[in-house]
Amino acid sequence: MSEKRNYGFDTLQVHAGQVPDPATGASAVPIYQTTSFMFKDFAAAQGISSGEMAGYDYTRIVNPTNHILENRIAALEGGSGALAVAPGSAATAYSILNSTHTGDNIVAAKTLYGGSFHLFVNTLPKHGVTTTLVDPIDPKNFERAIDEKTKAIFIEMIGNPDINIVDFDAVAAIAAKHTIPLIVDNTFGTPFLFTPFEHGANVIVHSATKFIGGHGTSIGGLIVDGGNFDWASGKFPDFTTSDPAYSGFIHAEKWGNQGYIVKARHHYMRDSGACMSPFNAFLFLEGIETLSLRVERQVRNAQKVAEYLSGHPQVGWVNYPRHQGRIRAGQAFHRKPRALLLPRQRRRLEVPRRAPRHCYPWAALGGRTACGRSQARADQAIVRGRGRGGPPMGPRPGLREGAHLIQSPRNLKE
Ligand SMILES: Cc1ncc(COP(=O)(O)O)c(C=O)c1O
Repeated sequence: MSEKRNYGFDTLQVHAGQVPDPATGASAVPIYQTTSFMFKDFAAAQGISSGEMAGYDYTRIVNPTNHILENRIAALEGGSGALAVAPGSAATAYSILNSTHTGDNIVAAKTLYGGSFHLFVNTLPKHGVTTTLVDPIDPKNFERAIDEKTKAIFIEMIGNPDINIVDFDAVAAIAAKHTIPLIVDNTFGTPFLFTPFEHGANVIVHSATKFIGGHGTSIGGLIVDGGNFDWASGKFPDFTTSDPAYSGFIHAEKWGNQGYIVKARHHYMRDSGACMSPFNAFLFLEGIETLSLRVERQVRNAQKVAEYLSGHPQVGWVNYPRHQGRIRAGQAFHRKPRALLLPRQRRRLEVPRRAPRHCYPWAALGGRTACGRSQARADQAIVRGRGRGGPPMGPRPGLREGAHLIQSPRNLKE
């Protein structure tokens, strides 16, 4: 169970979900790098293994270090519980598998991270779950695509790579009207900028690999249960019928407002096993402690860089939501400044033949080094010559420091 959000974000990101280690009193989170746990007696062995008793048996199912990370993200998002998984991709996959069956479908924004797109369009259909992709610009598109077999709506809070922002409250209202869970990938938003549960989301997934970690050392994912969806409505038989694979429990009754996340743990984690290593959970906890500081700085620097580029004669366009008045859910962002991340590539662009030293292709966002790299790439994307005969693309002197979003954009004006 997550802590109530009585404390400020900065306090929760450092302390939530943790008590001093009961064995040693260690104040830092210990890394329980163990596959399994001793039971104090046979009754405990039976109770914990069957799910009747809380406790640890095997790290694939739950681990004390991972559990602290789970509780911390649940507290930051205001959810009822969470599950740490090996990558963000598994968080997305499990979040859908946990609410669908063969023959079901989901409705998703077509502006999705490529991995999620392929999961929905190419992989899940082979297993009987199809996706209708809709243009999220008009929330009614989601409603038009819903039918009686629709078992989830999936959106990214801030789309990757378009950095588009969906009219969140409108989509949440449609999901609620049809008793369909709204699953939100909040990787780019982070709970520091936006808390989807306060706006009607029911499940949140994260690629912790990005901003949650911030160090760029570990791949990880998180699923957070809002505890606010009626899984007992009759649309989701896995939640309302006795589970032969799990002591005959009826999940919607047995686990209160944690039914979704407990079922995800005991079906998909137990049976397919994409668990996070305790060492990575420790590293994510290290990262999450500075989430507010990093995102605040990244947002501030992004705004400065976007403003600089917007006024630059060699810049074709700047894909920056705030400038384009595209924060339609702007009121939803509860922290100032409401500016978001930096421009991203809209179409494939040639990499300059003699790329500057810092101009690498990048594969991840949100890390302290990845920011620099991705920003260098983003500079290429936005510093677009006007037509083929235009000025060469690529970062120019003066943008180099601006490329490091956690660092200072002080050299921009040079
Ligand atoms: C928005 C978003 N969601 C999910 C993922 C997948 O996360 P991971 O790389 O941790 O599997 C990514 C990866 O880039 C992403 O950008």
